[in-house]
Amino acid sequence: MISKFRISLVLALLLTLAIAVPVYAGGWAVITLDELPTGVIAGELFTVGFTVLQHGITPMTDLDPTILAVSPDGEKFIVLAKPEGKPGHYAATLTFPTKGKWNWTIQAFTMEQKMPVLSVAAPSIASAPGIKAEPVKESSTSLSLIVRWLALGLGLIGLTLAFRRKSRLAVALTALCLTVGIGLFITGSAVPAVEAGSESPVKVANVESLSQVELGQQLFVAKGCITCHTNAKVSNSSDYWTIDFTGATNLTNFSASPEILRIRLKNPKDAKSDTQMPNLGLSDAEIEALIAFINSK
Ligand code: HEC
Repeated sequence: MISKFRISLVLALLLTLAIAVPVYAGGWAVITLDELPTGVIAGELFTVGFTVLQHGITPMTDLDPTILAVSPDGEKFIVLAKPEGKPGHYAATLTFPTKGKWNWTIQAFTMEQKMPVLSVAAPSIASAPGIKAEPVKESSTSLSLIVRWLALGLGLIGLTLAFRRKSRLAVALTALCLTVGIGLFITGSAVPAVEAGSESPVKVANVESLSQVELGQQLFVAKGCITCHTNAKVSNSSDYWTIDFTGATNLTNFSASPEILRIRLKNPKDAKSDTQMPNLGLSDAEIEALIAFINSK
């Protein structure tokens, strides 16, 4: 009886291991976006690139990753990513049909990693009436400039004629032209100011104003740090798949000097030669934002 019990215990253990082992021995990968997407416009093509590294180290080729995007109204679409460039690198071309805050995830290998919410702008920003109207305004300005100088010139000629010939017609012409000319000069000077004013709001609408900390938080997700490191400072951190990789520091209450972090993130091997932390090819600007986020309270 005891031996039967032991056998079933061993069998149960083996079964549990058989199910659990693949997840720890090869069943996960780190998905790293090339860069945080910005300036995405509804209805326009937009390409996203990313790398899939098994255990954060080995580039994974021959995958068929997909991107699933969900609009605020629950509208969905799926796009297939294709290998592009270096081994383990993939790219997909997406067109978001409507503006708004889209949720999106990348599925690759066994992973389904959620990406930072994407702000898709309305197409009207690029072709705002302000911009379209501008060339018209400009040509009307140059036209009024010609009329102005013409009126002034004619007025002066009329003035000379009026003096020489003492003709009433010439006096009337002079008065008319000078009035038109001077009038246009006065109103004309106001035009450029109006133009400058109408231009600036359009430009402002294109710039996303994220703080360094907020940017760092998005990068922490988009670069795949969250796959290895627990960090409760990431909003809705439980929405993301964290392996909680053995030895990867829980970064929730972690802080360190920017100098040390700069080395650690630029080339982890320079910080610790036998490190398990991968070099994710971060840019200097990305590193600075990540440091601001890591050290934020
Ligand atoms: C593949 C897993 C993995 C990924 C992905 C990863 N790390 Fe790490 N990281 C580790 C491990 C493991 C350590 C712990 C010590 C070591 O081996 O060097 C570490 C250490 C660190 C440390 C130092 C902590 C300490 O205790 O001194 C920081 C900071 C850090 N990682 C930030 C990041 C950031 C930011 C990213 C994303 C750009 C990232 N890591 C991506 C595995 C990972």
